[in-house]
Amino acid sequence: MKKLLITGGHKLHGVIVPDGSKNSALACIAAACLATDNNIVVLKNIPDISDINIMCQIVRMLGKKVIFDNNTIIINGFFTNCTIPSTMTTKLRASLYFWGVLIASTGEINCGLPGGDKIGNRPIDIHISALQKMGVHFDIADNAIRANVTNRLEGQNIYLKYPSVGATCNIMLAASKARGKTVIINAAREPEIIDLSNFLTKMGIQITGAGTERIVLYGNSHIHGNVVHEIIPDRIETGVLAIASAITYGNVIIRKSIPYHNYALLYLLSEIGIEIAIAGDNIHIQNTRKLKAFNASMMPFPGIATDLQPIITVMATQANGTSSIIDYVFPERFQYISELQLMGAEIERHYNTLRLHGKSQLKENTVTGNDIRAVTALMCAGLVAEGTTELYGLHHLYRGYSDLEQKLNNIGANIVTE
Ligand code: UD1
Repeated sequence: MKKLLITGGHKLHGVIVPDGSKNSALACIAAACLATDNNIVVLKNIPDISDINIMCQIVRMLGKKVIFDNNTIIINGFFTNCTIPSTMTTKLRASLYFWGVLIASTGEINCGLPGGDKIGNRPIDIHISALQKMGVHFDIADNAIRANVTNRLEGQNIYLKYPSVGATCNIMLAASKARGKTVIINAAREPEIIDLSNFLTKMGIQITGAGTERIVLYGNSHIHGNVVHEIIPDRIETGVLAIASAITYGNVIIRKSIPYHNYALLYLLSEIGIEIAIAGDNIHIQNTRKLKAFNASMMPFPGIATDLQPIITVMATQANGTSSIIDYVFPERFQYISELQLMGAEIERHYNTLRLHGKSQLKENTVTGNDIRAVTALMCAGLVAEGTTELYGLHHLYRGYSDLEQKLNNIGANIVTE
């Protein structure tokens, strides 16, 4: 089994550029399939990661043509199929974006349940109730979903009981071909929603309000290709790079980012003693001081992203005093704690809250990451641990990041892949 050997104690210094956003790319690939003509849709700045490759395989299975090369995806053609086997859907959460796309385009879907990271309960009720309101009939049995719509989807006023990112995307995708106006109330406000909206706008859909809690979208039965769209930078990778720089007492410039997408995190970093300078799309992070203990909450955007929670926990192990971390989005995203404890972290958990007593001198051990963000956090723990940490679970790392270990090595880390 492949592993990383991470030798800790090296300061990061230099310039680094994050990849394009995984989550935005996944939504935009699904959206590209809405085109009703045979013109190509070009998506640029796509990260070369396994989740994207799986998404491309699903698109090909559905009959469209896909070329993925040099961080660019080209999609055209027509749907010939509306079945996605569970062997594919269970590989990633974003497979459920094809519900909205297929039901709007072909009137039916026949697929397995979505998969994704094991970060606690991940219900699909908001997706289902929204699509039902638009006219979809669901039949869910034996881990399979069959659904159809008798006529065309109907635009509706849809209230979300929680501002789910996935449900907001799915409704936008379905509503793009629905009859009339759809209003999403309590919509997610994440930057990936704005990116999807900008892309759909280029394809001819009229949308307002993306990035606010009220999105208004007018459906169109003809959606054109012949569009080029560049995906936004990955704010989660940017956050990881910022924290890795901070905990190693580094001096790093993150280029080609959108600093606003990480304001909550950058504010936290500056509060605990790290020097942050923002100039255009550059974020300069420098740390020469001991980290102060902190209290941080993970919340929907513009709060700190839940995806950064595991690595913020690593940062808390390096802060002096008692820190607390609350995750309001995925309150059970804590499976990695036992691994950090093996490395010497002092952590107590009470439901959605962690309390950490630092600073802990983390020490080498053999650890395994069980989801994308957990394995990344353990990699960063290795950067500050004494000795050489052995890290397993790399297939999760490659689901979300193209060459993070190499990028970190380029700015001074010592990570060997075996
Ligand atoms: C997306 C991201 C993920 C990120 C998350 C929150 C992708 C592929 N994944 O996941 O990286 O951590 O947003 O920013 O973009 N919920 C329900 N019912 C539903 C749907 C969600 O109760 O039908 C709950 C979830 O259990 C969770 C919360 O809503 O507690 C947030 O989930 P959601 O925003 O939907 O996350 P995802 O779209 O799955």
